[in-house]
Amino acid sequence: MDKILVCGKKPLYGTINVSGMKNAALPILFATVLVGGRFSIGNLPNVSDINETLSILKQLGATVIGEPGNKDNITVIDTTRLKDDLTLSPQRSEKMRASYYLIGAALGRCGKASVGVPGGCDFGYRPIDQHLKCFSALGATVKQENGMILAEAPEGLKGTRVYFDVVSVGATVNAILAATRAEGFTILENVAKEPHIVNLTEFLNFCGAHISGAGTDTIKIRGEQHLHGCDYDIIPDMIEAGTYMIAAAITGGDVLVDNVIPKHLESVNAKLMEMGVDVTVNDESVRIRRDPDKALQNTKVTAMPYPGFPTDMQPQMCALMCTCQGTGYITEAVWNSRFGYVNGLARLGAQIVVNGKMAVIEGGHPLSGTTVTAVDLRGGAALILAGLAAQGVTVIDKIHLIERGYDDIVGKLERLGADIKRVSFPG
Ligand code: UD1
Repeated sequence: MDKILVCGKKPLYGTINVSGMKNAALPILFATVLVGGRFSIGNLPNVSDINETLSILKQLGATVIGEPGNKDNITVIDTTRLKDDLTLSPQRSEKMRASYYLIGAALGRCGKASVGVPGGCDFGYRPIDQHLKCFSALGATVKQENGMILAEAPEGLKGTRVYFDVVSVGATVNAILAATRAEGFTILENVAKEPHIVNLTEFLNFCGAHISGAGTDTIKIRGEQHLHGCDYDIIPDMIEAGTYMIAAAITGGDVLVDNVIPKHLESVNAKLMEMGVDVTVNDESVRIRRDPDKALQNTKVTAMPYPGFPTDMQPQMCALMCTCQGTGYITEAVWNSRFGYVNGLARLGAQIVVNGKMAVIEGGHPLSGTTVTAVDLRGGAALILAGLAAQGVTVIDKIHLIERGYDDIVGKLERLGADIKRVSFPG
């Protein structure tokens, strides 16, 4: 029953340090299962999805030394010897989306995977047909039975050519994991180009894999059985960075968002500038300034695969658009149903009409605090941002959803001057 309480209307000032990227770390942690070896992983974010994944690795027989957030910021993982049975139960796999990366990793390592259907944020129907299509193309027999996905390739996986019908981050990751140790050559076409795809292939190449083309829409993999551990640092979280950039813009103030890769933030920077926010891009940081007395102008945003505006920034951008002058438009082109959080914004006084994959926002209606409920990770972050702009106290419920992906969000905002706290209420 933990909640976050925000008392709004306080401008933010200072420097905020961005943590490692959850969605880059998750594929790499499952890749340690594929490779088998000793790894020293730097910059793991201290968020519940990462802690859950480390717990899964331990269950599979890995040793893990150094919790995320330790003072050296390094976690040592040894997956050299794992249990014979790499099964993951539905109860464990449904706790998060990325559990399905164990299918590609276990298939690649031992030709057999048995993993419960994955969970994750509720954005409507989330098929995994492209993952299964790729495993089959690589020579595995795949079936779904009693809430489990069962894949088997007793003769090993064989390189192939796969054209993805939709651009999918998860299917691209799973295909790379499965094909890295397959016999022969694999070509993956129409793949995702997200920075975490590039991060995963760089990690695997450090382990001895032969993967090229990441960051373009075709990835080529020459299968390699002899892989080894490595030392690797997780890239900064562009979604966390973007969230704090919007926190600075929505409250007014002057914030340096530090430890970022500005290239990954180009679409967010462009939109903020268009709206009237003062954005200065440095080598590894972005400075966001906004005069709290100057109104921002509303805009149009289309959430698309990278390098388009990230769907995982769409709810936070919507919170900002509620406070801008004029009418704003958001088109969600990745997910069928990603406006569940709008109800919470409306409770705070926002005027939003959702029609299918589009939201129309009548900006400039004053927000005022009340109790709201997070419905998913980024939608929950949007409620915190709206609370920072609202008059009075906003109480946010179901914050475990936010803590799946934000490392110390309350502490970080508090250090910038926000009036925010995390409170435990008895059961
Ligand atoms: C990942 C991110 C999520 C982000 C999303 C898009 C993780 C853990 N999660 O999710 O935060 O919002 O990328 O950037 O990294 N699709 C199919 N068939 C498939 C797979 C996907 O039709 O087999 C569709 C989905 O329904 C969706 C679109 O493809 O409409 C994109 O999904 P995908 O990129 O796979 O998202 P995830 O990897 O699940």
